[in-house]
Amino acid sequence: MIKQYDQSFVLETAHTSYIFRLLPTKQLEHLYYGKKLTVSSSKDIEPLIEQHAFAPGNTNIYDEEHPEYSLEDMRLEAGMIGKGDIRVPFVEIIHADGSSTNDFLYHDAKINTSHTPIKSLPYALNNKEELEVTLVDETYAVTLKLYYNVYYEYDIITRRAVVINNNKDEIRLNRLMSTQLDFLNHNFVFTTFNGSWTNEMNRHDHAVESGLYINASFTGGSSSRANPFVMLSDKHTTEDEGDVYGLNLIYSGNHYEAVEVGSYGKMRFVSGINPQNFSFLLEEGEIFESPEAVMCFSAHGFNDMSMHMHSFINDCIVRGTWQHQERPVLLNSWEANYFKINEQKLIKQAKAAKKVGIDLFVMDDGWFGKRDNDQSSLGDWQYDPKKLPHGLKHLVDKINAIGLDFGIWVEPEMVNVDSDLYRNHPNWTIEIPGCNQSEGRHQRILDLCNPEVVDYLTDVMSELFSSANIKYVKWDMNRTFSDIYSPYLPANRQQEVFHRYIIGLYKLLHHLTHSFPDILFEGCASGGNRFDLGMLCFMPQIWASDNTDAICRYKIQNSYSYGYPLSAISNHVSSTPNHQTLRTTSLDTRYNVACFGILGYETNLADLSNEALEEIAKQIAHYKAHRKIFQFGTFYRVNQELHNWCVVSDDQEEAVGMILQELVLPNHQFHQFIARGLKEDMHYHFFNEEKQYNVKLFGDLINTASPVHIKQDSLAHQVVAKFVKMPGEVEDMHTTGSILTHGVCLKQAFSANGYNEQVRYFQDFASRLYFIEKESEKQ
Ligand code: GLA
Repeated sequence: MIKQYDQSFVLETAHTSYIFRLLPTKQLEHLYYGKKLTVSSSKDIEPLIEQHAFAPGNTNIYDEEHPEYSLEDMRLEAGMIGKGDIRVPFVEIIHADGSSTNDFLYHDAKINTSHTPIKSLPYALNNKEELEVTLVDETYAVTLKLYYNVYYEYDIITRRAVVINNNKDEIRLNRLMSTQLDFLNHNFVFTTFNGSWTNEMNRHDHAVESGLYINASFTGGSSSRANPFVMLSDKHTTEDEGDVYGLNLIYSGNHYEAVEVGSYGKMRFVSGINPQNFSFLLEEGEIFESPEAVMCFSAHGFNDMSMHMHSFINDCIVRGTWQHQERPVLLNSWEANYFKINEQKLIKQAKAAKKVGIDLFVMDDGWFGKRDNDQSSLGDWQYDPKKLPHGLKHLVDKINAIGLDFGIWVEPEMVNVDSDLYRNHPNWTIEIPGCNQSEGRHQRILDLCNPEVVDYLTDVMSELFSSANIKYVKWDMNRTFSDIYSPYLPANRQQEVFHRYIIGLYKLLHHLTHSFPDILFEGCASGGNRFDLGMLCFMPQIWASDNTDAICRYKIQNSYSYGYPLSAISNHVSSTPNHQTLRTTSLDTRYNVACFGILGYETNLADLSNEALEEIAKQIAHYKAHRKIFQFGTFYRVNQELHNWCVVSDDQEEAVGMILQELVLPNHQFHQFIARGLKEDMHYHFFNEEKQYNVKLFGDLINTASPVHIKQDSLAHQVVAKFVKMPGEVEDMHTTGSILTHGVCLKQAFSANGYNEQVRYFQDFASRLYFIEKESEKQ
């Protein structure tokens, strides 16, 4: 709901309020963002207004009529340069006379009944309430528009800005943020998620004390170095209690989130396009649109904020055929084959996949040009006749005949110098003509600032996607930018390259996703190097990390879940020892982590033992039975030493939970599973799946039970292992939601003193899934 009381604006969601007003000096003063306040008149708002009687010494006053106002000490909706505010600015423009002072003052405001379209960028859908505030800098004839969209039931408010140059002279826009939040104090923890390839999303909590702290990407993409999703919370906030703001951007390029404690203890947060190496020329009448920032406040801890973000993303960011549809379980060819693929091998693996219940077979890298390694052929999207002698369509038909859908890997934004595309169009890449170029993975980036390149890629990809029955596309992007230069753009527009590239990419994705509405697109950028809301507007799921090690993955997926729903997070069960870490984990644990989200497999199923295949078949059947919950259920992280997740159906009648242990701590064998999201007084059946363990897992402890001595790993050991299985523990309880939420005391875990079916076999990296189902009748 958007309300205006005299000179104040109140934006209300179900549980939050966002309030600002017009200052007597005509800037917009931010008054409040947080838990919902009851407001029914401008009088009610008065206590939120700081009562400035004089400006602090050694500051500039805005004008003589208002000696009480120094903009350096005011909470503002948009900070500017040159009129007293010396904090990190919202907007920075260099005018034709060389000045960078901007004095944007309130002009008018109106309430729109839908989201004003953003022409160059994707934006959130389905809104009916928008506030559009226009500010004008009269001296330079430049307009700044601020847009606020209110997503009432999601507790989400989005913000963005537009600059319009009405001056006959061109202006240079050096910075335009998407949102700004000025707080009265700085008692916050600023949480960022940083990392690198195979090590995405490490959570860092920074106590905000002084100065400027920046979380930003300069890779050209949203990056695995610093995800654009960040949080501001109280230092006492937990998963279940306390204040937290979740903040994100609908943007896939270089982004910037900064917190600054000003000289008077107030704190400013801004986020938007990274101003580093950014500068846009606007000629008379031209406009610049910032990406949309997404803001969510919860007074009930991180889980509650995440839940709101998840619903918002599922309903207003992800779109198209696959938006709310359950996603297929896939087998990806990469880790099983790397570049060494051929028709025969793929068909063999697909047959094995069909037997265990896989829905979709994905042919990853290596199928085109002369792609035997990563040094050639990107750009030449014709199948390699040596690997696929009967062609792509033939392979796809064969895979379809096995009973599987077919998916394909592409990396359209890239080119190898060793490719026909590069040989034919050496000026189509981001590079500085005549200079030595730095490469990443032996590849260069196509210049999507150039519309000809975008059109070419649209045609080539359309042709490829129509050439066979392709149901899924893995869209990869494996480089960060270097040699930032577009041969297409003039010298004075080279600082526009990063942003224009993203605009070109969005155009390309818009065309393709509209031309092929039924194809399921999965985003990927060396794993999570472009995991953001911009990509999710085109691709409903993203490959979260090239690291498939379950223990690393637990942490990576856990961190993504703060800002992104399970339906966006794609995970695979892969080989053991793991290809990235050489860590050995059980098939159980690999599945137990991967099933929270979009499940796939990435291992040579044709090489696995029957025992492993049987287990995988059970996993997939189990996943399909609970797929809706794993992909779209309400997800909870539980605060406790043991890693503990819980995902619950919309009607709260069903849930699946997990515990995961990193390392065994001797004599600490009593663990709890803690549920979340259940109805307190509803009765549930709590149980696990009964497992049987291989006796070899106990090593030479077999001799404590065997009447004859058995040498470890001997033939005798193998034979015994074939016939003797160790029974796993059974959990089976009937109780209320409130007790499950308090915690379930689980069977004692193994520790040196013997083993029987009452003992939980729970070694390093062990995990368990627990099932919770509503009792049909009160037990
Ligand atoms: C990237 C992706 C991988 C795989 C390879 C293929 O690294 O993240 O999943 O597709 O490219 O080259």
